[in-house]
Amino acid sequence: MKQSTLTQRRGARGEVAVPVAVPAARSISTADERQDRLHVAIIMDGNGRWAERQGLPRVAGHRAGAEAVRRIVSAAPGHGIGTLTLYAFSADNWRRPPLEVKNLMRLFRTHLRTDAERLVEAGVRLNVIGRRDRLAPALLAEIRAVEDRTRDGDRLRLQLAVDYSGRDAIVEAARLSADEPELSRVLFADRIARALHADAAIPDVDLLVRTGGEQRLSDFLLWECAYAEFLFTPRLWPDFAEADLATAVREFETRERRFGGGPQQHHAED
Ligand code: FPP
Repeated sequence: MKQSTLTQRRGARGEVAVPVAVPAARSISTADERQDRLHVAIIMDGNGRWAERQGLPRVAGHRAGAEAVRRIVSAAPGHGIGTLTLYAFSADNWRRPPLEVKNLMRLFRTHLRTDAERLVEAGVRLNVIGRRDRLAPALLAEIRAVEDRTRDGDRLRLQLAVDYSGRDAIVEAARLSADEPELSRVLFADRIARALHADAAIPDVDLLVRTGGEQRLSDFLLWECAYAEFLFTPRLWPDFAEADLATAVREFETRERRFGGGPQQHHAED
C-alpha cells in the first residue's frame, strides 16, 4: 500500500455479479487514511462454537460476537489501526439455515440503529462493503443512514463486509473496467471499491486476523491481501478481547515485510 520502504514496519465465506449502478469511489484524502496507520481485517469466526460450548442457541453466539465487535471497534484506534474491516456476512452465508440468516440480519440492523450515536462520538466512519441488491430495504435504509451520519468520522474507518465475496468484487471490477484503455492497479482498485460500494479506495490489508482456529481466507479481501501478514488464533470471536488485538498488532510488528523485494529495498509501487 502506501508504505515507503519494504521494512517500514518490523517489528465460510460466490455467485452472481455485483450490481452495476454504483457511485464512483471517493478519493483517499481523509485523516483516517494516513500512511502510518494500519489496515487490520478480521474474519470473525467461532460464534456458533462459543454458543454450543455454553449450551446456548447459535444466535446467542452472534449476539456475543456483536459485543466483541463493539469492544474491538472502540479499542482499534488506540492500537494504531486506521482502517478496520470486519467480515460479518459472506455471499455464501446465505446458504445457512433461514432462521440463522434472519437472526444475523436483524442483529446487523439493530446494532446499526443502536450504535450509530456511539460511532459518531467515537469518530468512526462506517461503510458497509459488499453487494446491496439482496439486502432487505429496511436494512439498506439503516446502512445508508449510518453511513451518512458517520461520514465525517476521522479516527477510524470501519468497513463492515456484508454479502461480501472477494471473487465477485474482482469479477465486477473487471466488468466495470472493460472499456478502460489504460488499466492500472490503482484504477482497478478503484473499480473494486465501486463494485463494493466502498466510499473510498480500500487500502491494502496490513494484517489479517482470523479467529476460531481455521486457517483459510474464505473469499475475503483477495485483492487487498496481496501482501498482508496473516495471524490465526484459536480464540473464538466472542472471546476476542482488546488484549488479543494488542497481541496481534505486536506480533505484526515483529514481522519483516519485504513486498517481494530484498531487505531495505523499496516497495514496487514507490
Ligand atoms: C462466524 O461464526 C460469524 C459469522 C458468520 C457472523 C459474524 C457476525 C457477528 C460477529 C455478529 C454481528 C456483527 C455485527 C457487526 C453486529 P460461525 O457462526 O461460523 O461460528 P462457528 O464456526 O463456530 O459455527
